[in-house]
Formats: sequence, structure tokens, C-alpha cells
Amino acid sequence: METKLQALKEEAIAKIKATLDTKELNDIRVKYLGKKGPITDLLKGMGKLPAEERPKMGQLVNVIRQEVTTFLEEKKEELEAKALEERLASETIDVTLPGREVKVGNHHPITRVAEEIEDIFLSMGYEIAEGPEVEKDFYNFEALNLPPDHPARDMQDSFYISEETLLRTHTSPVQARVMEQKKGEPIKIICPGKVYRRDSDDATHSHQFSQIEGLVVGENIRMSDLKGTLDLFAKKMFGADREIRLRPSFFPFTEPSVEMDISCFKCGGDGCNVCKQTGWIEILGGGMVHPNVLEMAGYDSKTMTGFAFGMGQERIAMLRYGIEDIRNFFTNDLRFLSQFNHTEL
Ligand code: DAH
Repeated sequence: METKLQALKEEAIAKIKATLDTKELNDIRVKYLGKKGPITDLLKGMGKLPAEERPKMGQLVNVIRQEVTTFLEEKKEELEAKALEERLASETIDVTLPGREVKVGNHHPITRVAEEIEDIFLSMGYEIAEGPEVEKDFYNFEALNLPPDHPARDMQDSFYISEETLLRTHTSPVQARVMEQKKGEPIKIICPGKVYRRDSDDATHSHQFSQIEGLVVGENIRMSDLKGTLDLFAKKMFGADREIRLRPSFFPFTEPSVEMDISCFKCGGDGCNVCKQTGWIEILGGGMVHPNVLEMAGYDSKTMTGFAFGMGQERIAMLRYGIEDIRNFFTNDLRFLSQFNHTEL
């Protein structure tokens, strides 16, 4: 029996030494030391031995078990250390590799221009007002002194949703809405937002674009206030040495109506491709709020007067960044948009 035990021990140790993975090591443990293993079998057979030999044999079995267990544990540690080493080696970080660039987005150029315009007017004490893009014909046209069948409606071809509802063609309806809410109180607002017109898209036309509207109503508001405000705006937006000029124009909701040009910021007025050789660049339309518009909104046009203006955000952005095709703003081409990521305004 002793020889048998020694042979089993040698066999077990040889297998432990030879194995390369922990699962197999566990199988060896179960096989040799487990309840159904040969060593347990031998122990069971001890009853057949003469009584004086039993303690000696029992001791030997324990020693052998102990030895095999020690080998198993050592091997287990060895295998685990090796596995850890391999894992660490495979996970090594090469700190000399160049880092991956994190792409940081930015505001759309139109948003940036709008925010800049907003900041200028906020600094003059204006508030920002908004109105719906799906608008009533009443606010888009009638309340602005454009009754049904008024010929000036043709200037703004529209997307109608029903007889009375359309996609607003300009931000001017916000004027009418705010006047209605303020019920005769003074007003000083700008209204940025999207507008829609039935235009065929080309380099300078888009069926959707953005405007910013301005409206000031109060006692004794005069044309000179409009001029002073626009002059300050032009200088802040396009440079301190910009001149402005007002030309007579027509809008149904203002009387008198004007269009404002700024002296060309590229050539300073000598004539170049940006100003089409005229020295001036058209920026916006405006005028004194028509008494009919004030009256329809419940204001007494004898005591309250106002001025208003409206400009296209895309146009301003195109001038500012030298963009030649308005469609660039809407096609979402990152090659175009990412050019503005690091642009300082
Ligand atoms: N709503 C006009 C347009 O889209 C622009 C405009 C002109 C707005 C004169 C005004 C204004 O507030 O007074 O063509």
C-alpha cells in the first residue's frame, strides 16, 4: 500500500508540474484528492490492514495529501501570476502615441451672428420676443396693414396651411402680437426667428431663412431715434468707421419707410466686388410704425409712436464671412460648418 501511495503521489506531482492552465489543475485536484479519488479509496481500504499498521498508514496518507496540496497551491499561484503578467503586458499603454483628437463642435454661423446682434440690442435695453412660425394670416399680413388682396402681399409668396394659416413670411407678425399683449404700454424688443417664402432656392434665395425684427414704441419716438439706433448697430456690428445712409422705400407697415445701407467694410466706399462697385451695402428695411398698425393693436397713434426694422440673418452672415451661396447654411456639410469652429467674430 505504501508503494501504491508513493506511486500515486509521483503521478499527481508529475501531472501538476506538466499542466499549463488552472482548469486542468483543478481537474487534477479533484481526481487525486477528491472523494472518489484513489487516495480516498486507499483510505477506505485501511480497514483491512492489521491494527498496528493503521496509524502509520494514516499518517502517510496525510503527509502525501499535504505534499500534493502544496504542489497544487504553488502551481496555482504560478499560473495566476503568469496570467496576470500576460494581461498586463497586453494592456500596456504606449504613452508615446499621439493623442486622439477630440472633435469639438460649435454654434452654427447663423446662430453666432444672431447672438451677436442680440447682444448689441440687449446692451441697449431691448428684450427678446418670439412668436410662432406657423402663423395666422391676420398677424402675418392684416395686422401689419396688408389687408386681403393688398398688392404688397405679392412681395412675399407664402406657404399656406389653410385659408387663415401660413408659415410666417417675416418676423414682423411678432410686432403685432407683442403690441396686442402690451395693451398700450411702451415696447422695446427684438424678435429673432425663422421665416419661410415660396422661393426657388438659388445662391441668394432660400425657402427658409432667418430674420431679426426690432420694434420700439413709446411717447415721442422719432425717426432720429431710428437713425441713431441703426447707426450704433452698424458701427458695433461692422466696425467703428462704418457710415450709414437711409434711402426712401416702401413697406405697408411703416410710414415713412427706409432701407439702410452701410458704407462698404471691404473697400471703405471706393467700390469693390462686395459692394458691387457702389461703395454701399444694403443691410435692412425699417421705418416709423404706420398709424394703422398702432391703432389696430389698440395704441393711440396720436400719443404713441414707434419705429421698426427687420434684417436677414443669412445676409449679414454672408457679408461678414464672405459666403457666396446661402444654401451652404442649410446643407449641413461639415466641411463648410467646421470652418467656423475657430473663427473669432
Ligand atoms: N418684414 C420686412 C421683410 O421681410 C422687413 C421689414 C421692413 C421689417 C420694415 C420691419 C420694417 O420691421 O419696419 O421684407
